[in-house]
Parts: sequence; C-alpha cells; structure tokens
Amino acid sequence: MEPPVLLRLIEETTLSTWLRESESPFVFYLVLLCHTFGLALLIGANGLLDLRLIGFLREIPVAPLRRLFRLMWLGLGVNLVTGVLLLISYPTKSLTNPVFYAKLTAIACAVRVLTKLHAVFADTSATDADLIARGATLARWSLGLWIATITGGRLLAYTYKYILYPS
Ligand code: HEM
Repeated sequence: MEPPVLLRLIEETTLSTWLRESESPFVFYLVLLCHTFGLALLIGANGLLDLRLIGFLREIPVAPLRRLFRLMWLGLGVNLVTGVLLLISYPTKSLTNPVFYAKLTAIACAVRVLTKLHAVFADTSATDADLIARGATLARWSLGLWIATITGGRLLAYTYKYILYPS
C-alpha cells in the first residue's frame, strides 16, 4: 500500500525541495546542526537539574538551578522549529516510520513533566529539601523520557521504510 498522497504534496513544495536539494551547507545541514544545539541546551540543562534532584551533584545548591528553565524552553523552541523543518524536508521518511510517532509521544510526555518541574521551582519560598521532595519523581521521568527521545531521534536515520515518496 502506498503512503498517503499528502506526503508527496508536502515533498513537492518549494520549501521541502529547497531544504532537501540545496547544495549549500547552510540549509539542511545547518538545520540538523541547530537541532543538535537545541537538544544540547534543553537536555543539557534539564539533565543537570534532574540528576541533582535524583541525588547526584549534592554540592550544588538546588534552588538557583531554577535559572536553567529559560535555557530549557529556548532549547525546546529551537528543536520544535528545526524539527518541523527536518520533517518538511523528508515527510515520507518520518511520517511512515512508527519510531517517529514514538519519539513525538516521548517529547509530549517530557514537555508535560518539564512544565510540572517548572511549576515546582516557581515556588520561590521552597527550600532545597522541599524542591527535592516534590521534584525527584518528576526528575526520574524526565531523564527517562529525554533518553527515549534522543534514542528515537537517532534511530530515525536507520529505521525508515521510504526516504522519498515512491514513484
Ligand atoms: C524536543 C526535543 C527533540 C529532541 C531531543 C530531538 C532529538 C533528535 C535527534 C537526536 C535526532 C537525530 C539527529 C541526527 O541524526 O544527527 C533528531 C532528528 C530528527 N528530528 Fe528531532 N528531536 C526533538 C524534537 C523534534 C520535533 C518536535 C520534530 C518534528 C516535529 C523532530 C523531527 C526530527 C526529524 C524529522 C529528524 C531527522 C530524522 C532523520 O534522520 O531522518 N524532532 N531529533
């Protein structure tokens, strides 16, 4: 059975063709590079916070880590924009791959956990012990979901059925 024809229509748009076929290294590869930078910002900052809440890095005070949320949201914004551009470049490749939907599900759950963690840290009167008590379980989920997201993202390069719409 052929993939939905909508995928071919997306693939034939000027934007998709330009992103995929431009010979300039500042198009597709820059988008992919920015996707990795966004991931480093988001999961670098969130991973540090998670590890601290779980009980590692005990010499670091917990409450000042609330300043990392800005970096996390920035990284997430970069990855949403660059992710959509990567998707537009090869819509058939991603949207016919179940791993892509698993990755999106992991992202949706991880963002929900991030929102909850942010709400915990929004209480500026909470002590480090309070933050750990309220955030440790969320932090475990967060780490697991981001690991699943990165694994899913990387596997997309090896698990696809089509690269382009079959002709
Ligand atoms: C929010 C956090 C996200 C993380 C941590 C993440 C992670 C990754 C990783 C690790 C890769 C592999 C990069 C490589 O092979 O060099 C990747 C590729 C990709 N991501 Fe994301 N991603 C995120 C968000 C998104 C979103 C929101 C979308 C689309 C709506 C998306 C779509 C893609 C696509 C299409 C690829 C290319 C897959 C391929 O090789 O064919 N990503 N992502």
